[in-house]
Formats: sequence, C-alpha cells, structure tokens
Amino acid sequence: MAGEFDRLHRESLENPHDFWANAAEEVFWYRKWDQVLDDSAAPFSRWFVGGRTNTAYNALDRHILDGRGDQVALIYDSPVTDTVTRYTYSELRDRVARFAGALRDLGVGYGDRVIIYMPMIPEAVIAMLATARLGAVHSVVFGGFAPHELATRIDDCTPKCIVSASCGIEPGRLVPYKPLLDAAIDHAAHKPDHCVIFQRPMAEAEMVAGRDLDWQAVETAAAPADCVEVEATDPCYILYTSGTTGQPKGVVRPTGGHLVALKWSMPHIYGVQPGEVFWAASDVGWVVGHSYIVYAPLFHGCTSVLFEGKPVGTPDAGTFWRVIADHQVSVMFTAPTAIRAIKKEDPDGALLARHDLSRFRAQFLAGERCDPDTLAWCETHLKVPAVDHWWQTESGWPIVSNCLGIEQLPVKPGSPTKPVPGWDVQVINAEGQRAAADEIGAIVIKLPMPPGALPTLWQNDQRFIESYLTEFPGYYQTGDAGFIDGDGYLHVMSRTDDIINVAGHRLSTGAMEEVLAAHGDVAECAVIGVADALKGQVPLGFLVLKDTADKADDEVTRDVVAMVRQQIGPVAAFKQACVVGRLPKTRSGKILRATMQKIADNEAYKMPATIDDPVILDEIAGALQALGYADDHKGAS
Ligand code: COA
Ligand code: AMP
Repeated sequence: MAGEFDRLHRESLENPHDFWANAAEEVFWYRKWDQVLDDSAAPFSRWFVGGRTNTAYNALDRHILDGRGDQVALIYDSPVTDTVTRYTYSELRDRVARFAGALRDLGVGYGDRVIIYMPMIPEAVIAMLATARLGAVHSVVFGGFAPHELATRIDDCTPKCIVSASCGIEPGRLVPYKPLLDAAIDHAAHKPDHCVIFQRPMAEAEMVAGRDLDWQAVETAAAPADCVEVEATDPCYILYTSGTTGQPKGVVRPTGGHLVALKWSMPHIYGVQPGEVFWAASDVGWVVGHSYIVYAPLFHGCTSVLFEGKPVGTPDAGTFWRVIADHQVSVMFTAPTAIRAIKKEDPDGALLARHDLSRFRAQFLAGERCDPDTLAWCETHLKVPAVDHWWQTESGWPIVSNCLGIEQLPVKPGSPTKPVPGWDVQVINAEGQRAAADEIGAIVIKLPMPPGALPTLWQNDQRFIESYLTEFPGYYQTGDAGFIDGDGYLHVMSRTDDIINVAGHRLSTGAMEEVLAAHGDVAECAVIGVADALKGQVPLGFLVLKDTADKADDEVTRDVVAMVRQQIGPVAAFKQACVVGRLPKTRSGKILRATMQKIADNEAYKMPATIDDPVILDEIAGALQALGYADDHKGAS
C-alpha cells in the first residue's frame, strides 16, 4: 500500500514502546518483560528489561512444538566436498541439545564464553546454537583470520572452551585450522580449559592430550541439555569487528532485542514467510552469517542454506543459480563483490539458463557499497528485485533497506533507499548541524537505537562511548559518510575512519600499519584502500625505510606482505606495498591518506591547505603509477 512504509517508519519512531512490544509478541518468552525500553542510564539503553527467554529455544524447540519438526531447518550444500545434507528442525535440535550437553559436561554454563573458529560446516551452526542453549555467550572468529587475531579475541573474551575443526577448504588448498588454533593459544595470555575439535576426513588434527577433545566422542557421550532461561538483556554473542587500531571491537548482541528485531526483519524487510527457503551466501564468521544464515531464518521457521563454496570456481560461476534452483530458494543475500566475480566470468548470465529459478523472488545485497552496474546486472539477468541494503556488525540487522514485506519503493541505484522502521538515521554536516537535503556529512543514528543493536562493547563501556557516542552527543556515529536526498533516500559514500572494505570484508588499515611498522627496516608507513574492480577495495602499503635499512626495497615489501598474511590473515588480501622516500603530511605531521587514496583512484582532489611539501604528492603518484594506479593523475585541482 502506497505510503505504508513511511507510515510504519513514523509510527516506530513516535511510539517505539508499542511498536516493539507488538513485534516482541512474535517471540517466545518464559517471562514477559517489565519494561519495553529502559534508557534511564542513557546513552546506554536496554530493551525488554525483566523478560526471560532463550535464543536456541526460539530457533528450534518452539517450531517443533508448532509442528515444524519434520521441516528442513538447515541445508548444508558444499560443492567443495561434493556434499548436500539436510537437517530437519527435530534433527538439528537433537544435535544441538546433545552438543550443549557435551559443553555443559566440560563446565560451560550460563554467561561463560565459547569461541567458535570453524569453517562453513553444520557443526559451526550447532556449536553456536548449543552455546546459546546453555545461556553461554559465543564468539565466532572468521576462519580467514590468522593466529594473532584469534589470540587477541581469546584474551579479550576469555573463553572457557574453544570449538574448532581440523580444516577448512579453500579452492585449491586445505587450510589446517588446528595449527592456527594451537599457535593462537600459545600466543594468548588466557588459556581455555578445553578445545573441542571436529575432525574432517580431509585432514586429521593432532590433539593436545588433556586439553583437546574429539567432537564426535563428546557429542556421542553426552546427554541432551535443556534450554537455560536468560535475561533479555544478557549477551547472546560477542562478534569482533575492525576498529581503527589492531585491537578489534567486541560488539555485544543482547538476547531479547536480537530475537525481536531479527524475527521482525524476516517478513517485513525480506518478505519471507515461515516454511520458505532463505539463503545468505556469507560466512558464519561475519554478522551477515550470524543474523541471516543462522538466527533470523531459524527464529522465523524458515529453511536456511549453509553454503561451503565460492561464487566462482566451485565449480563455476553458475553455482549460486544451481543452489537457488536445487533448494528452491525464495530470497537470497550476498555481497556485491560476489556478483562482480560472477559477472566477470559470465557477463551475459548464460549459466542462469541452465537452472529453474521460478521460486526465486528477491536478491539482497550488502556488506559494501553496491555499484549501479552490479545492481543493473542483477535486475537484468535475475529478473527479480535486487535490493541494496545498508547495515553493519554493530546494528546486527538492516538500517536502511527497501522493505519488500511492507511496500516496495522505487529504486535509485547507488542508494539502499530509506531507513527501516526503528532507525532514526540523520546526516550531520561539518558544522555539527543536521545536513540539508543532498548535503554530505557523517551518517548518524539518533539514540536510542532499536532492539538488536549493540548495547555496548564487551567489557568496555568506555570504548563504546568514545568510539560511537562522543563526537555527536545523543547520536550513534556509524563511521560512514553520505547524504539524504530530497526524497529521504540515503546515499552511503565512504567511511570517515581508517576502515576499508575488501570483498565485503571490513578491515582496519590501522591494524595493517601496526604490522608494517613492526618490520625492523621500516621507519614510517601508511596503508590505504585503493579501488579494485572485483573486491571493491584492496589495501596498499607505503613504506619509508630507515637509513640503516639493510634489506633491498623489494625484499622489505615481500616481508611485509608475508607479515600481514601471517598476523592478520589471508582475508586481508594485502598483496601490494611500495617503498617511497617520504609520506605526504600536514604541517602538524598527519599523514594525508585520503589524498593518497584519491590520487590512486584518479579522483579529483584539492591540494590540502596544510600540506607540508606538495612535491611529495607527485612522488606518491609516481610510485602508484609503477603499481598500475593513478594512471590518469593530473595533480591537485
Ligand atoms: N579460511 C581460510 N582462508 C580464507 C577463508 C577462510 N574461511 N576465507 C577466505 N580465505 C582466504 C582465501 O583463500 C584467499 O587466500 P589467497 O590470498 O591465498 O587467495 C584470501 O583469504 C582472500 O579471500 P577472498 O576474499 O575470499 O578472496 P578470493 O579472491 O578468494 O575470492 C570473491 C573473491 C569475491 C569470490 C570472494 O571474496 C567472495 O566470495 N566474497 C564474498 C564475501 C562475502 O560474502 N562477504 C560477507 C558479507 S555479506
Ligand atoms: P560490517 O560491519 O563488516 O558489516 O561492515 C559495515 C560497513 O560496510 C558499513 O559501515 C559500510 O561502510 C559498509 N557497507 C555495508 N553495506 C553497505 C551498503 N549497502 N552500502 C554501502 N556501504 C555498505
């Protein structure tokens, strides 16, 4: 109905208590809340205070009682192992309950942390739900991160237990996880009591006697555990995400708000009904995987697809369409980079013709800016609505989206459309005032944020306030810049901080600089994100060597590439660095990274008024040209 979207958005902001109390009726509670929203300790806010519930009960048990026990809950489709396995709600619940029993036998209980470092196998989902069943708190670490990153997370959330697998499978190579896990535990100050290792047949992990236990053995030996009631305000999970330094931020997800928001999002944003098949082609290590592979589809009684593969090469660029057809997927979610990878190999979508996509209704895209070409390719070839939507780890669910279940708004390529009900999104200009229409500024969200958004960072209220709430009092700072046009559509343009987005993965250039600076021959360094046709952005390092450096330039660049891979992980995709004589700086010594990035990407830029020595920019352009960038460099305007 025309106007319904705006009406619902207005209602959600004018009367958030009633709006979210209504939404919360769709969730199972052992005890209902006393207060919908408590923001007496603003800027902190707590939703559904006094309510008691359990995440895993809402994901599984309640649906079995409602008659969905024989419905498929999870389809594991793994082209890299040539496997398809289906789990009904009853089967999945039984495995989760038994693995929860195993964790309980290892001493895991309410409030304890469990780190999950796993590839895309059903056991990753089972471990998440089993942790939630016990009222414990999981923290999933993406498999593409190196031991150092894992160690940082171990020390921050001090898990009682770590659940992992013997290996992951990347196209063309096995990734043995266990040596990475062992190195991380060696490196960390905190030691978990136990590690539970799922042995995959392609690589057997060596076990540490006394500490490591075989998944199969502990699951078989355990008695099923019941769901443990928790407070709505208790954390369901911690998910670390890149900040501006090497120390990632532990985003906390509150149990009750998470349930309510995700359950609401399925019919309203994605337009999906219980019983339908939903597929998010992401990884459980990212927020998209948490919210839309595991939790939201299961909270809503859908069938979710867990895909262990890549958009191309497993075996070809038609694999996504094969999965949609084979499993009768109604709605799919992926990152624009995945579509760009497919488009590169199959520009005319010829592989689509081999598959019956008649059940497919909508393609959602997020994780990075969706370029209009990618959107147009989806619309032309998939012949269903292609929906760019914008959100982040911190929000846990979409902030700005065309809400297919409410009212389909006209699309403006390059914009994820309008703020979703619950989110009061504004833009603040350089003068600290609310920006006019079309005026670029910092994208902020007026507090309180709706249910499901992060209430704080794990055991670090201070960093939560400093990172997000200080610059614009009364607002949450998203870290993105953009504008709202005259029709109320948001346009997200860039980050305002040192975060870059590589193939839909959020990475910190600051963290990479910390690694580069640790090289003995490096005096100074800078990392920027440069435009990449496939991955959106890729990192590029600039190094100034010490006068005393005894290695050749290319030896140092090779070293730092290896160091980033070793310390942050292959996912950083840090493959290029160059040695320069100096870095461009302001007179106060601040490195002009944004100007360097504009030169690399052939974007127009103004000579910064405070630059120390403008000549350096030509030297930087020369170094970039040698790497194949800045080919159209014309100097400052
Ligand atoms: N475990 C171990 N290593 C991993 C990994 C994992 N779970 N995931 C990625 N890596 C490695 C890759 O093997 C690769 O290593 P390499 O340098 O040896 O080749 C590196 O990390 C970069 O991986 P990736 O970003 O996947 O790049 P790619 O070149 O292999 O593939 C795409 C490019 C576009 C196909 C791929 O990035 C993609 O599918 N992106 C979609 C991302 C996504 O879904 N994001 C979630 C947000 S919705
Ligand atoms: P993450 O926390 O990893 O999900 O990354 C969130 C960040 O990715 C956002 O703050 C944006 O910078 C970027 N992002 C995600 N989705 C979009 C989108 N649809 N359009 C533009 N940027 C996006």
